[in-house]
Amino acid sequence: MDQTKTPYFQVLLDYVDSGTTPFHTPGHKQGLGMHRLLREFVGDNVLAIDLTQILGLDDLLEPRDAIAQAEALAAEAYGADHTFFLINGSTSGNQAMMMAALNPGEKIAIPRNAHKSCVGALVMSGAIPVYMKPEVDEQLHMDHTVTPETVEQTLEGNPDVKAIFIVSPTYYGATADLQAIERIVHERNKVLLVDEAWGPHLHFHPALPLSATEIGADLVVNSTHKMLAAMSQASMLHQIGKRVDTDRLRAVLRMFLSTSPNLVLVASLDVARMQMATEGPALLSRTIELSNTTRARLNEIKDVYCFGDEMIGRPGVAGFDPTKITITVKRLGYTGYEANEILRYRYNVQCELADLFNVLALFTIGTDAAAAEKLVHGVRELAREDRPVDIFSPSGVLERRLKTGTYNFPPIPPMAMTPREAFLAQTEKVRFRQSAGRICAEVITPYPPGIPIIAPGERVTKEIIEYLALEVKAGVHMQGPADPELKTIRVVA
Ligand SMILES: Cc1ncc(COP(=O)(O)O)c(C=O)c1O
Repeated sequence: MDQTKTPYFQVLLDYVDSGTTPFHTPGHKQGLGMHRLLREFVGDNVLAIDLTQILGLDDLLEPRDAIAQAEALAAEAYGADHTFFLINGSTSGNQAMMMAALNPGEKIAIPRNAHKSCVGALVMSGAIPVYMKPEVDEQLHMDHTVTPETVEQTLEGNPDVKAIFIVSPTYYGATADLQAIERIVHERNKVLLVDEAWGPHLHFHPALPLSATEIGADLVVNSTHKMLAAMSQASMLHQIGKRVDTDRLRAVLRMFLSTSPNLVLVASLDVARMQMATEGPALLSRTIELSNTTRARLNEIKDVYCFGDEMIGRPGVAGFDPTKITITVKRLGYTGYEANEILRYRYNVQCELADLFNVLALFTIGTDAAAAEKLVHGVRELAREDRPVDIFSPSGVLERRLKTGTYNFPPIPPMAMTPREAFLAQTEKVRFRQSAGRICAEVITPYPPGIPIIAPGERVTKEIIEYLALEVKAGVHMQGPADPELKTIRVVA
């Protein structure tokens, strides 16, 4: 196929060129009706292609023409049998994968550090989770991926598991040993679903870890908008082989889709694929080089540590994506949240994520040397700032844990109901501190990085209460609970 072509973007351009008078949605009529406040800022061009699925523009719900061609080009570029464009992010991709692969009551093995969209996917699909423990890195205080051994043990202990869900890469760039996992899963004729939201670029550079499509996962989700140059919400779902019924997958995708998809997003996927297929290796070589040199410069700053390839080989780290720079600031005496705020408000640099000990800077094909320079300057200045000693004053416990290095994630609480049963059950609000033993009816996810600490159907434990109370004190934003300050929690009545 001709990967230089962008068939979908082209039909939008052709429509604009045709000068057709629009008696169709959207109501702003290619910008004419839009208030100038927004129109003048975003510009007429983007509004001109903000169209709807009229004659000649194909239908994202039933692609036959230009969208089908654009998806086929993407499938070829990624080595997939089918590619589906998503306009509600990899969130909808995770939901679609589970709903296509599983019926209510069927089991799925899933890492505990899966993105919170998976909780919604479990509620919607009615699948029963068998949680796999990701490797916990005590030194870096973060989760990595699950190992092939964990997958094997899980399947041996739960032979009725139908599908295995793997997250690779993690937010921080660690990749799983997907080749070994693929062998284990497919030898047993199970389905392999991979959340590769953070790895849409992996496929296009030999120095990056192998992509999930390359190793032959059954379904793979990519957030094209996260690490490549598509617009926000634009993702792709790739299918390889026939273990998942393609017609059912299409039916599920139709359920998730608006009947008025944003076609600018669809076009941005078409162009992002063309860009990778034609210039990907060259663009990514530059990105990898810039992130590696920046990592080395940051590592020269006293008490700053940014891990790199030395991570490979640790449990749960089969490979590493160098375009992610995790800046560990704990030896500077900051929490990652504080460092993130200082970098933003004093040095005008915004990182992707902060957690207790780190801030994460993403390098993509859109990052240039000037931006890297600003990051290095910000972190250098941050390291020179005078810090009061009492840095973790909101929580002395945290400080003690940091010093003794015994900071631990709480154990996965026991599951008393499926996520779907708990989500649909009668619920009541109780005081969080007094909720031990109750069945949680909501998901509680410190954000970022978006890993649920407790999910619907699980019993609240003392450890969970203690852990979450600490995170709230440290100023971590809680996503999911009705009361984000966690004074109360919603439990099954
Ligand atoms: C691992 C992982 N999967 C899925 C998602 C959801 O992706 P999206 O934002 O494209 O909906 C995220 C978002 O951060 C994520 O980190």
